[in-house]
Order: sequence, then C-alpha cells, then structure tokens
Amino acid sequence: MNLIRRPRRNRASAVIRDMVQETRLTPHDFILPIFVMEGQNLRTEVASMPGIYRHSPDLLMDEIAECVDLGIRAFDLFPNLPEAKKDKYATESTNPDGLYLSTIRAIKDRFPEVCIMTDVAMDPYSSDGHDGLVENGQILNDPTLEILAKMAVAQAEAGADILGPSDMMDGRVGYIRSALDAAGYTNVGIMSYAAKYASAFYGPFRDALDSAPKFGDKKTYQMNPANSREALIEAELDVQEGADMLMVKPALAYLDIIKLLRENVNLPITAYNVSGEYAMIKAAARNGWLDGDRAMMETLLSIKRAGADVILTYFAKEAAKQLNSRQ
Ligand code: PBG
Repeated sequence: MNLIRRPRRNRASAVIRDMVQETRLTPHDFILPIFVMEGQNLRTEVASMPGIYRHSPDLLMDEIAECVDLGIRAFDLFPNLPEAKKDKYATESTNPDGLYLSTIRAIKDRFPEVCIMTDVAMDPYSSDGHDGLVENGQILNDPTLEILAKMAVAQAEAGADILGPSDMMDGRVGYIRSALDAAGYTNVGIMSYAAKYASAFYGPFRDALDSAPKFGDKKTYQMNPANSREALIEAELDVQEGADMLMVKPALAYLDIIKLLRENVNLPITAYNVSGEYAMIKAAARNGWLDGDRAMMETLLSIKRAGADVILTYFAKEAAKQLNSRQ
C-alpha cells in the first residue's frame, strides 16, 4: 500500500505515545468528596460504594493527611446526620457546634492550605429529604433561598473556601453571593451546580448520607436528562449571578454537556463523577467483568478530554496513587 498518512506511526512506542498524548491527568485535577459522621474513632464503609467510608471527625483528619501526601488538595465535605437532628427547616445546617461546621473548622485548623468545598442544599439536614423547603408536597423556591443563604454564610464563617450550591433553586447563586458579600465574605467562592440532572446515578450517595427524599422525586428542581439547551440557560444565569466555577453533574452520561459548557462559557468547569458512576465500575471490577483500574483512568480522562478543568471523584485517591506510581 502506498499510504502517505499512517496514524499508527504516532502510536509506535510508549515514548512516542506519551509525547503526543493530548490530555493528561494529575492529582491536582481532583476534588475528593468526603463523608463525615458523628462519633469518635468510627469508620463505616458505604455498602454501595466499596472503598468509600464515612469517617468520624477524628479519623477524617487522618484520611485528609493521607490524601494530601498523595497530592490531593481539595475536598468536598458532606455530613451524615442522625434522623433526630433533621427537621423541616434544616436548622442543624447553621449550628456552629454541629457536626458539619465544626468539622470544617477542624480541617482548616489542621490543614490551612487545603481547599475545603461545601455543599449548600437542605437535604442532609431535612426531615423531608429534599434540597428545598417543603410545604404541602411542594418544594418552595423563594423561601428556600433565605435558608440557603444562612447556611452559606455559616459555612463561610467556619472557614470554607468554595461553596457548592447543589440545590437547583432558581436565583440561589445571586442570593447567596449577596449574602456572602454583605457578611464580608467577598473572597469565598461559589462553585454552582449549574447543570445538575435528576439522575439515577445519585443512589449510592443517598445511601451514604441516608438522605433519600421521603416522598416524590427531585424532578421539579433537578434537570431533565433529555435536555441540553436548558443547561446553557442555567449556566448563563449562574454566570450572571456571580458564580466562580460551573459544575456539570453527573459526568459520564453528560460528557456532551461538559463540552457544551466548555465551548460557551469561560468560567472553569467542574464535573462530578458521581456515586453511581463509581459504584458501576467497582461492581463490574469485583465481578471480574472489567479491569477496574483501567476503566477508572479511562473514565477520568474522558471527563477531562470533554472539557472539565476539575473532577470531583470518589476515585481521587486511587487515581492519584496510580498516577504517582507512574512517574
Ligand atoms: C444533594 C446532593 C446530591 C449529590 C451531591 N449533592 C444528591 C442529590 O441531589 O440527590 C450526589 C452526589 C453523588 O451521587 O455522588 N444536594
């Protein structure tokens, strides 16, 4: 064959393949979601997320120290609260001595250099298990904003660096931004969950936090998986309202949305490689049905290749170990 172009030449050896590699992962690309629960010296594995644990605050410090050694420097904290601490108004979310806020303070005391990201939404604290305030079976938008703004200011006060409104209420980014600024927290950032879909892939996360909705679903606030133009509308609003970064969630079934936002918005894009995406790979790997390490790296690469600048992933530790061992 007289072929002028032979793309295989650029794949001829490991050195050449590395040289022409377009997308590379480093541990700095990752944010590790971490689950904290009450108690001392406790560590329980999430049944549907093998290898992922809820830690009591003392053991969480060890976990963070280990991650920092691996090069992971950003963490997104989520609380698992006992049912008795939940109520209609998510009151516990602003308790300065409560689990969540005291853990943020403890982490920032011991590891001032790490970036602590938070979740702003009512569900872990809500007796209804919804992200917003429930009245007569409806999720109320505007009254929820007040609660979210108080939660956000309390998180900033505890020392959080970047807040992640994941609730999908209309207008919350602007409302939270004004509340933060009014309280003097002009330097605290907002990573808005701009395109957050009503997804089946959040199942294992709700197990981890015992935070599944007590009735109905989240389809009146989270987006319809069939829509992509709507993601642009959400993204534009969040940019106007003052978001510093935009999130797409989940990641794997929404790579087109990551790319769409990347091409249309100039803010950093984060992608949440969610609990169900983690569980799928783990389950298949445990059955010997696929090579879990390779499937993990391929997944993370695909998310970055699609245009994500940062990836929230439960694989952060494992992936960092693999990346570090190659150097
Ligand atoms: C809730 C929240 C959810 C996740 C992050 N924040 C679940 C939900 O919306 O029901 C899911 C993350 C994951 O599945 O890993 N505010």
